Amino acid sequence: MSDFFQFQLPTRVVAGEQALAGLADEVKALAGTGDGGCRVLLVSDRDLADAEPVRLVVDVLRSGGVEPEVFGEVVPDSSVAIVREGAEAYRSAEAAALVAVGGGSSLDTAKAINMMVSTGQDLLDLQGVGVLDHPLRPLVAIPTTAGTGSEVTFFAMIRDAERGEKLPFVSSYLAPHLAVLVPRLTAGMPAMLTATTGVDALTHAVEAFLSANRDPISDALALRAAALIWRYLPRATACGSDLEARAHMQVAACLAGMAFNHPMVGVVHALAHALGGRYGVPHGLANAIFLPEGMRFNLPGNECRLVELGRAMGIPDLPAPADPGGVSAEPEALRDGALKVVEETARFIDSLGIRRSLRAAGVGEEAVPVLAELALSDGSLAANPRWPEFDDLAAMVRAVL
Ligand SMILES: [Fe+2]
Repeated sequence: MSDFFQFQLPTRVVAGEQALAGLADEVKALAGTGDGGCRVLLVSDRDLADAEPVRLVVDVLRSGGVEPEVFGEVVPDSSVAIVREGAEAYRSAEAAALVAVGGGSSLDTAKAINMMVSTGQDLLDLQGVGVLDHPLRPLVAIPTTAGTGSEVTFFAMIRDAERGEKLPFVSSYLAPHLAVLVPRLTAGMPAMLTATTGVDALTHAVEAFLSANRDPISDALALRAAALIWRYLPRATACGSDLEARAHMQVAACLAGMAFNHPMVGVVHALAHALGGRYGVPHGLANAIFLPEGMRFNLPGNECRLVELGRAMGIPDLPAPADPGGVSAEPEALRDGALKVVEETARFIDSLGIRRSLRAAGVGEEAVPVLAELALSDGSLAANPRWPEFDDLAAMVRAVL
């Protein structure tokens, strides 16, 4: 860890079953319209546009004097074209703020629309890190999945359909102004979506904890997130109406999002972005496929870290890593312990019913060099604790064929 770090969390978080109650007032305060009311663009998934979460948010906004124009055109892995359409909808609605209701794709789309309407520039001119130089319009994020953490992150990923790649947008100005976590809004998720989005959150926690740019605050957030996911994701997957498990998963995904804002992610996400961008495999599933292999690759030099993570998750019979002033276990015991954490993570993913196989996801052997090449140029590798060469990435892909 470096001797300097900074930590920023611009997003106000409100959580609980009553968290929507003050939404209209919050939006009016953010938009600066006071009691005068205002119009907002409500961005949501295509399959959610008529569903309960959107209806609920629309009712709450209307009864508080906020008129929402619903832009329900977002699909999984949203594209540049959809973002441009959304920006047009925002302008013609004369909206003063954005409210995003949905999964990571809707939240990222709203962030990208916000970039366009706040800067007047086209999305393709805003790619990369730190391009924005001023705050954006007010954005409220209301997640209906527990995974991406996009409600608190500095990132948006948008698919460039023509190039078959995912484009990254990174700035602390992308963090929503307000995140509203309501457990029952995630209760409609089918079991497999619950499982895969939950493993996306676990991947954020693991990669933040192993990152070369980690810091003491991100460490604390990552360990707590991983512990909650290990405990509650199986319950949320097995019984969707278990609102206690849903609530803990929603908080865990949010903590994991906060955890990776500064340290970023790593090799698992580099491979997952390649798999999603080129072959359209959903982000959570793509991470689940690669997470154990990424951890295995990062094991050398990170034995203590992996053991510490495993102990936080409650994996039994792990050696004690060195605490400040404490006595560390033998290197061999730590190596065995770290390997056990990797294998238990694979077992955990399998136990959720997720198939960690490229072929099962419809992707064949010809993808090996394609994915390795794409991952090699992915920005997520910058903070990975070990630099992978092309052959390392190809081996990780081959291991999950
Ligand atoms: Fe992710």
